Amino acid sequence: MIGHYVGHVGRADPLHGFLGRTMADRLGVRESDPSFRAFRLSGSNEVYAYEERTTRTRVICKFFGPRFGWDRDKAAGTAHREYEGLRTLRGYDLVGSPHHVIRPLGMDRDINCVLALEYYPGELLSEAINRAVHQHDSGHLFRRLTALAFYLATQHNRTANGAGVDFDADCRYLDSVMGRLRTRGRIGDWDVDELSWLRDHWQVRPRMWQDQQVWLHGDATPANFLFGRGMDVAAIDLERMKRGDRMFDVGRIAGELQHAFLAVGDRDRAEQFIGHFLWEYSCHFPDRDAAFRSITSRAPYYMAVNLLRIARNDYISDRYCGRLVDQAKELLRAC
Ligand SMILES: Nc1ncnc2c1ncn2[C@@H]1O[C@H](COP(=O)(O)OP(=O)(O)O)[C@@H](O)[C@H]1O
Ligand SMILES: [Mg+2]
Repeated sequence: MIGHYVGHVGRADPLHGFLGRTMADRLGVRESDPSFRAFRLSGSNEVYAYEERTTRTRVICKFFGPRFGWDRDKAAGTAHREYEGLRTLRGYDLVGSPHHVIRPLGMDRDINCVLALEYYPGELLSEAINRAVHQHDSGHLFRRLTALAFYLATQHNRTANGAGVDFDADCRYLDSVMGRLRTRGRIGDWDVDELSWLRDHWQVRPRMWQDQQVWLHGDATPANFLFGRGMDVAAIDLERMKRGDRMFDVGRIAGELQHAFLAVGDRDRAEQFIGHFLWEYSCHFPDRDAAFRSITSRAPYYMAVNLLRIARNDYISDRYCGRLVDQAKELLRAC
């Protein structure tokens, strides 16, 4: 079981009834006297895995309440958005093997705005990246990236709606990330000027406007994809799902790969994995070479935005933040 054991759910706790009902009504598992053990998982929300002792049934619960404090409506709205996002993507036949979007099982506003989810046993992308970074197990990460590229290309291709992308939205996103870095004193006015100048060059490039909108995962980070056997992939954490340019997701994965190796001073080793991921993603288009050219020409912008997004996190040291910002600028200078 992932996560660490934190205790039992008391029978008087409303969560106990909620878990029992979820298990019986949604999963069809009936147990006259269920008993649940709780395991804390890591995430920006409070996320726990619950295991029923006799049947070994597992359910994931994500509590949105703590993150939004007193603002119950906002917490409930975010839980609802994730619930609807999961349902929407599952509606595109992303259910089962090899491509699976986690099944939402229920919500309860009064229990800390909890969202119950089906448990998916698997390896996180972050674990595969760690194996490559620290144990030099490259083959394993290559295989996982092949599977992930297939999953993302399938999600994107199935959900394309024919409407053109709005690159202005991606420019505004860069502005908001820059704004947060500036407020925290992590970059200076001169950095903002330079990054804005580089952004303007991307904004007028026709290729940044040419694709059609797809459903994006919206937070395609290594902790939000699970891998099963072979090519099996499951997507979780759809809180930020939105329509937009596929490169938002693709560039985030590529940026995360770059960050993972940059953080240990091994920047160049990331290139083979990024190249592999983009090449694998491209093979799901009728003209693989043309797709690869288009994707690689747009990726630097989205990778740069992702590096800046990472740079605003509190756990990033000032020194490493400087390296991320430099690397983002280098990417944005690509033409
Ligand atoms: N359905 C699931 N099956 C197995 N593990 C999960 C599932 N959902 C979440 N997790 C685990 O919990 C962590 C946090 O969940 P996530 O939905 O990503 O929350 P957050 O929004 O806080 O990042 C994930 O990184 C993963 O390790
Ligand atoms: Mg997450």
